[in-house]
This record gives sequence, structure tokens and C-alpha cells, in this order.
Amino acid sequence: MTATLINGNALSKIIRADVAARAAALAQQGCRPGLAVLLVGDDPASAVYVRNKIKACEEHGLHSSCDRYPADLSEAELLARIDALNRDPAIHGILVQLPLPAHINSHKVIEAIAAAKDVDGFHIANAGALLTGRPSFRPCTPYGVMMMLQAAKIPLSGASAVVIGRSNIVGKPMALLLLEAGATVTICHSKTRDLASYTRAADIVVAAAGQRNVLRADMVKPGATVIDVGMNRDETGKLCGDVDFESVKEVAGHITPVPGGVGPMTITMLLVNTLTAAEQAYA
Ligand code: GUN
Repeated sequence: MTATLINGNALSKIIRADVAARAAALAQQGCRPGLAVLLVGDDPASAVYVRNKIKACEEHGLHSSCDRYPADLSEAELLARIDALNRDPAIHGILVQLPLPAHINSHKVIEAIAAAKDVDGFHIANAGALLTGRPSFRPCTPYGVMMMLQAAKIPLSGASAVVIGRSNIVGKPMALLLLEAGATVTICHSKTRDLASYTRAADIVVAAAGQRNVLRADMVKPGATVIDVGMNRDETGKLCGDVDFESVKEVAGHITPVPGGVGPMTITMLLVNTLTAAEQAYA
């Protein structure tokens, strides 16, 4: 059996066309949606992600600004910049790229962002809203995964789902969104004993462990849906996910590729959240 691909590039294109139309409609009313991105330090992967986010804004009619700071920026300076952006009416979304250098308390920084501008959905108010079943801004990567599952018409209510990874950015919000959709959800992680015993029983597996080959063909139920959130490099430097794609695609019913799967959807949902923030601010 060869799995059906869930194509993140194709779905992104459709959603981004809608984003551009909504941005144009807002612009007609005199409001240009604006995203501010803050990057601290010189992590090369973060620099690439930020560049792609800014480029996507430019291509879809959103205004964006990017502040790049050296790794020794003080926490107080970062908080002062966030405070200024919170009050700037031209800015509707604020994103601080993570991870931050160790001397900066990322919880404190995230909590300093106005919840109404927290387009990452990481603020405790937005995380709490998701936990209590009243989601406002959904974190972009899990939100993108939900859009992919919906587009591929994967049944969620009553499905058994396993999320591998327990980060605040992906694993935890992913589990909550699947739960909200009626799935029976198990969160597995690096301390889980016998991971395969969980994944083999799952209708849906979301791999967000940050580790190559965390999911192999013998760990997947035939016909299951496999979503790969991983972004790794193999020994030749080629981009790859957390899933052993070549073997798993022979067992799974649906699978997302890397690249061209979840990656583009993350940025697309950031655009959606920023636009929503602008529409709410302008309403
Ligand atoms: N670092 C890795 N993923 C993300 C993300 O979705 N948002 C932010 N702010 N930082 C990240």
C-alpha cells in the first residue's frame, strides 16, 4: 500500500489566497494588517524561519517589521520593545522567535505580549483558553496540522491519536486541538516506555519529537494517518522529518512529506492569525 500525500504547499496556496483577499478588504477600509517579528541572537535555523515569515507577509499584503538583536540583548530591553509594540496601533501581531538566549526568561517575555497580539498563541491567556475549550489564537503549527487533517477528510471524532512530543509550541497544543475535535489522545515523549505499543494502536500519529526516524514502518497501523512535524537534517545535510518516510509511506493511509508538508502550513496559519488579530482590532 502506498499512502496518499497530504500536500502542505497546495493547501497553503488555497488558504493564502483567502488571506490575501481578506487583507485587501481590510486595506480598503484603511487598515493594513501588521506583524512585528523579534529575533534575538544568531541561530541560523531561527534566521531562516524569520526570513520566511517576513517574506510571506510581504507576498500577501501584510505589513511586517523585523527587529534583529545580538545574543547579549538584555531581558529588560526586549521587554521594553514589546511594550512599545503592544501600544503601536499599526502592529496587530507580535512574534518573538524562540528559542531565546538562556539569560532571557522566555515565559516572562511571552507573558509581556498583549494577549490580543499574541499570534503565536503562546501567552498563558491564550493557552488557557485552548485548554478550557474556548480557543482564541491557536498555535500555528498544530493549527496547520488540524487544517491538513480537515482538508484530507480524516475522521477525528472517536479516532485514537498519538502525539509524540510534549513541547508548549507543538505537542501540548496539538493534543488539545485533537481532543477538542473528539479524538482520544495520548501524548508520548522521550520518557515513554515502549512507544511502538502506543503508535501501533493509533489511527493518527503526529510526530513532533525533533528526532529523526522516531517513527518507523513497524510502529504504524496499516492505513493510519501520519503527520510529520519534524525538521531535521540527515547525514548528507538533506532536510528530513521525524518519520522514516520511505518505509512508513508503504504502511500509512495518509502521510505528510518533509519538506512540503507541515512547514508551509505553520507560516500560513501565522498569516491567518495576524489577519484575525487585525480584523478584531479594527472591528
Ligand atoms: N520556534 C519554533 N517554532 C516557533 C513558532 O511557531 N513560533 C515562535 N515564536 N518561535 C518558534
